[in-house]
Parts: sequence; structure tokens; C-alpha cells
Amino acid sequence: MRRHYRLMIPGPVEVDPEVLSHMSDPLMAHYGDEWVEIWNGVIANLKQVIGTTGDVLVVVGSGNTANDIVVNSLFNPGDRALALNNGLFGQRLVELCQAHGVETVEIEKPWGVPFTAEDIHRAVRENTGLKAALIVHGETSTGIANPIQELAQAARSHGLVVMADTIASLGGEPYRMDEWGIDMTVCASQKALEAPPGLGIVAVGERAWTLMGARRKPRGWMTDLQLLRKYAQEQANFHPHPGTMPVNAFVALRKSTQFILEEGLEYRWVRHNRIARVMRNGVRGMGLRVLAQEDAACVNLTVIMADGKFDPGDLQAYLKAQYGMHIARGIGPYFDKAVRVGHMGPNASMEAIVPFLVGMEQYLRKQGHDIPRGACLAGVE
Ligand SMILES: Cc1ncc(COP(=O)(O)O)c(C=O)c1O
Repeated sequence: MRRHYRLMIPGPVEVDPEVLSHMSDPLMAHYGDEWVEIWNGVIANLKQVIGTTGDVLVVVGSGNTANDIVVNSLFNPGDRALALNNGLFGQRLVELCQAHGVETVEIEKPWGVPFTAEDIHRAVRENTGLKAALIVHGETSTGIANPIQELAQAARSHGLVVMADTIASLGGEPYRMDEWGIDMTVCASQKALEAPPGLGIVAVGERAWTLMGARRKPRGWMTDLQLLRKYAQEQANFHPHPGTMPVNAFVALRKSTQFILEEGLEYRWVRHNRIARVMRNGVRGMGLRVLAQEDAACVNLTVIMADGKFDPGDLQAYLKAQYGMHIARGIGPYFDKAVRVGHMGPNASMEAIVPFLVGMEQYLRKQGHDIPRGACLAGVE
């Protein structure tokens, strides 16, 4: 029986063997000189990838944990926040705010359609007292990337603190936090940052710290960014995070972010974009439909609609058995209606997506669809 499948779900992703090998390094202390050097290395790398000179904190947990910590740290119960929902992860931000007693103004768009600056202007005109805007950049449920730069600019023009969930986008989609006026960035280790899961990442700029300064108690302990910053500053030379860190995951993240910087961010963004186009054009070449509006398609993943032409579960099983790759089914209302294919990090390569496209074409022909041989490679130059 096969024990390894090329992981082409939209995260976690295939991880470079050198990165992965750190998961079996001997354990080390999560404090002291050696650890401080590793911590500082990870933080310095992340600052470059995120494009910020602000604070970067790493927390133990997944992307949701990091989002939770951000909402807990930013708002007093009863504060008003704007949350943009055009997919499952936007909806999560709404739920998260509500769970913290934040009065949440939700604006909705159909899945696959991006928000525009005007959506934000209208929401602010119609709702007073908003303190922040929470925006998903890469929406993993639909395969779009909201135009975060434009949205951040709009929200900022009304004085809102801007928080971007870049969990599915950072490392593949272009992103510059400070330059684009974004106050908080949330990410996680396991997607286009190409490391194993387990670490959440939060970058914080001055305007966000100021808003947090008005946060009253109780506000938790390990879930309070102000407390985490205090440790990072006061214990910088010994124990910069108050808890025990999964040290191996941290060392792996240092290696993966080092590789990302060595490759070069601009080069990476172009590579992801090029592969995503081959993917989407190949999908259309087979007569299938991509969920995302084309001008907003995220370069890290593609959501392919079944439209009655294939069964997502059956296709997933076929590709696993015949091509040794694991893709994801649709999410939420699209579980039986679509598949989601991650092409980020090492999977943003011809070596990963060509076998996927060929496998899909073969599967469709087996289902009786009349597809010219090679139609799946319509996007290959
Ligand atoms: C955009 C986005 N936000 C949040 C999450 C939640 O992250 P995690 O599964 O690491 O908790 C995900 C996970 O896929 C995501 O893609």
C-alpha cells in the first residue's frame, strides 16, 4: 500500500526534505543562547516575507489560533468591527468576532467574487463607530485573493485598523504589509511558508498596538498579544516566548523561510502566478469551470467546479490511487460540488501540476466525456 501521496490539498503542502528533516532533530531547550538565535532568525525572516518593520510574534497553534488571539487582543466586548465574508474563512472571522462579544458588521459577497474598495466605503458610511476591518486575503474555500492593498487603503482612509488573514496567501501572492498600510497580518506555518503545521504568526504595526492599548481586562494571558510582546522584549536575550515552543517546528520554519528568501519574493510571486495560469487554462481546456472570478484568482490554489461532470469524491480517490496525489474536496456548500487543488510552495511547479491535469483529463475520459487528448495542457506554453 502506498504510504506517501503528493500533498496537493490547499495546505499543508509538500515540504522540502531538508525542512522536514528538522522535525527529527534532537530536542533542545526553548530558552537560552541557542534558542534566542533561532527565534531571532525566524522573526527576521518572517519580517522580510511579510514586508514589515513592525513586531512579529509566533504562537503555538494553527492559523485559527492566531486569528483568535488577534481578535481577543484587539477588541473590548461591545466594540464594533467590520468583517468581510465572501467565503468560509471570511465567515469564520465573523464567527470569531461574535464569539468575543464584538459587535460585528458583516458584509457579504457571493463565493468567488472579490470585494472592492467601494464595498468598504459603503459599509463605513452605513455603520458608525467601526474600529477595525478584518479581511481574508487568499480565500481557501473559493480560490480567490481579495485585493488586499486596495481594501486596506479604503479601510484606512476611514481610520480603521486593518487586519489581513494571509494564512493561505503569504509566500505565493504578492504582499507588503507596511507599504500597503496593513496594521496586522496573520499567517500560519503550513501553507506557502512551506513548513509543517503547528505555528501561527502575527505581525503587528503601531496603529494596532495603539488600539490594543485601549483594551481593558480581562484579556487572557497566552492569548494576549500585549503580554507576548512584553516577553519578547523583556526576555529577548533568554526566553522570548513565555511558553514551551515546539522547537523542531520552529527550526523547520527557519529553514523554509530561509529558502523562500533565497529564492526571492518577486521570483516566487511570478512562479506561483505562472503555474496558476497553466492550471486554470488547463482546467478550462477540459471544458471545466473555475469558481474564482478570473481577475481575482488566487495563485496558490484553484477550486474546480464539478457542474455534474465529475464526482469530487470519486475523482479524489482516483487521483490518489492512480497518480499518488491527494487533492481536497470542496468546502462547506461545495463539498459535493467542487475539488480544491493547492499549487503553492513546491507544488507551484510543472512537476506537480502536469500529472494532476493529465490525471484529471484521463479520469474525465473514463467517465465518457469526449475530451481531445492533451486538452488539459492548453495552458502550457
Ligand atoms: C484563509 C484561511 N484562514 C484561516 C484558516 C484556518 O487555519 P488553520 O487551519 O491553520 O487553523 C485557513 C485554513 O485553511 C485559511 O485558509
